[in-house]
Amino acid sequence: RVRVFSGVQPTGHLTLGNYLGAVRRWVTEEQHRADALFCVVNLHALTVEHDPARVQRLSRQAASLLLAAGLDPEQCTVFVQSQVDEHLRLAYLMECTATDGEMRRMIQYKEKAAREQARGGSVRLSLLTYPTLMAADILAYGTDEVPVGDGQTQHVQLTRDLAVRFNQRYGATFVVPKATRPRVAARVMDLQDPTSKMGKSHARTAGTVFLLDEPEAVRKKVMRAVTDDGEGVVYEREARPGIANLLDVLAACTDGDPERLAEGYASYGALKKDVADAVIETLRPVRERHAELAADPAYVDEILRTGADRARDLAKPRVDAAYRAMGVGV
Ligand code: TYM
Repeated sequence: RVRVFSGVQPTGHLTLGNYLGAVRRWVTEEQHRADALFCVVNLHALTVEHDPARVQRLSRQAASLLLAAGLDPEQCTVFVQSQVDEHLRLAYLMECTATDGEMRRMIQYKEKAAREQARGGSVRLSLLTYPTLMAADILAYGTDEVPVGDGQTQHVQLTRDLAVRFNQRYGATFVVPKATRPRVAARVMDLQDPTSKMGKSHARTAGTVFLLDEPEAVRKKVMRAVTDDGEGVVYEREARPGIANLLDVLAACTDGDPERLAEGYASYGALKKDVADAVIETLRPVRERHAELAADPAYVDEILRTGADRARDLAKPRVDAAYRAMGVGV
């Protein structure tokens, strides 16, 4: 079976973008067809200024949300990154494989570094080396496919480059993985600013739907979404980004096609109402199941512990082999 690995950062509450761009596909497709691992990558959350108690809380919440969304521990492996040391062991070897220039070319690094600096903060070194840890996350498991939204394709491409380079220099050790993207909603945009991606850590939250938002909050955010003043409802990503985004979200929630869906609407109001209903119904079971899981922390702990044990067993032989290949095996 193909090996699939993907992850989500607990830097903030999970968003509709995370769900439609990544998590939903893990639930409906990947866990059934592949040997899949899904990871709450909490070490990545330390690359920007953070509050320890908050990261701790959000990591648990993210894990519970993945289970609430439908990841089944009988079908796949769900775990938290910091519980498996192999990620960090391999990350260092990746730092010794990657170059400084490669790291500095990463779009996410440039954006996040600029954001930290604009806030008067300093840039953590780990923000620069972040893609080497992400490469380690993926390569440790012999991953074939990495189901992600559009924002992560550059990092997966870099991971491929590092795998190829390592294999050439030190001998065949890693599988060269590839990114896979969802059919729709690979890039859900902010409802207030449809030219920028919906993200967990935006300061303003009016344009971001969180998985745990109450139905009324979801409705308000969708009904107030910024649209454009063109005529009628048509699907044009460049010219009409606000409407296109709503159609993408509707298509993702209803398993439809955005261009087809556009034909069914004469007004923005009617479209928004259907989008709000669809998002609310999509998130309802997730929110309800999350509430149940939150009441049973021992159950979640047990799943994460079992998941980490399995992940460690899978990763260790390959990471050990990489140590030997690089000349630091024992
Ligand atoms: P993160 O936590 O930012 O996002 C998790 C997943 O959600 C997708 N995503 C989106 N998709 C569509 N529209 C959006 N607005 C949107 N926002 C986020 C992301 O593309 C991603 O698939 N570096 C990764 C975490 C990571 C990882 C890994 C992923 C660490 N190691 C190994 C895969 C494999 C990140 O920051 O994702």
